[in-house]
Amino acid sequence: MKDLHGKVGVVTGGAGGIGRAIGEAMLAEGMQVVLADVVADQLAATVKELGGKDVMGLATDVTSFESLCALRDAALARFGAVHVVCNNAAVGAGAKGHVWEHHLNDWKWSLDVNVMGVINGMNAFVPMLIAQDEGHVVNTSSGNGAYFPIASSGIYPVTKAAVTTLTECLWGQLRQLGSKVSASCLLPSSPNPGVLATGIWKAGANRPDRFLRGDPDDNKPRDALADYRARAKAAGQEVPIAPLSDVADLCIRAIREDQFWATYPLENQTQKLRARFESMLNRTTPEYLNEVNLMAAGAKERAKS
Ligand SMILES: NC(=O)c1ccc[n+]([C@@H]2O[C@H](COP(=O)([O-])OP(=O)(O)OC[C@H]3O[C@@H](n4cnc5c(N)ncnc54)[C@H](O)[C@@H]3O)[C@@H](O)[C@H]2O)c1
Repeated sequence: MKDLHGKVGVVTGGAGGIGRAIGEAMLAEGMQVVLADVVADQLAATVKELGGKDVMGLATDVTSFESLCALRDAALARFGAVHVVCNNAAVGAGAKGHVWEHHLNDWKWSLDVNVMGVINGMNAFVPMLIAQDEGHVVNTSSGNGAYFPIASSGIYPVTKAAVTTLTECLWGQLRQLGSKVSASCLLPSSPNPGVLATGIWKAGANRPDRFLRGDPDDNKPRDALADYRARAKAAGQEVPIAPLSDVADLCIRAIREDQFWATYPLENQTQKLRARFESMLNRTTPEYLNEVNLMAAGAKERAKS
């Protein structure tokens, strides 16, 4: 889709973080934008801040197919069409312990939002995009899961590996159909040093009642970014903040230039991919999983948190 001006984009998880940055970039391209999020007050504040007739917000829960159908219908009613769908909403559950100890509700919540949310988004929007033979779907994955998992982070990379595979299947099936609709897998990153400081670091925030664990920390999100900064500081490192607009730029370029892998060619990620595929090709044990990663707390540390 070379010319984005006048097109309509829908972004889930658009109240803040990367979703909001994508929405802002779409507006700058002259698009009309529908932001959707389960945190209604933050969404309303964001829509107010962005302002103007070209943006609307709708409280949406991506775990519900009906909610995504209502989002599609509201976008059509307001702007008359949808051309770009960014399935971007996700959570970090803040699970405790090892992968065999995580509470099942941490698994269910994460799978419901991060995986079923993308499936619900595809089912609600893709038939319409195919019927109009124009459109682009951007599913937000993560290097943590797409390249290889940060072993101590367990649930999240499982969901992101699923999103990556889903998006590959979507792209493949659209091509087999001869459709002009296309798809991209967004792997948020930045060519600038530092982390993408978003809400996803507030592990366990806004946990719905149906996914409570009966744990005193259920309504106390863990500030994983502060923890990471403390670990990095102890190791003599600073953690700069990278601009979210870098991720939005990736997304816009992927739509405009029909790039499937929406990511920067970063050397550390190339090394990770090479290490994983060499291990598979040479049938060696996955020693790359033992790499020290200050970004994620170890299971023992998280068990205590
Ligand atoms: N920040 C990073 O470093 C990073 C890295 C790689 C991938 N990602 C991915 O980027 C995407 C955006 O995350 P972010 O980093 O901006 O974090 P974020 O927490 O700021 O944004 C995620 C948004 O999803 C919303 N959400 C959660 N559950 C929902 C539901 N059931 N229905 C609708 N919305 C819901 C949240 O309210 C939030 O606004 C996610 O898919 C995340 O996994 C982020």
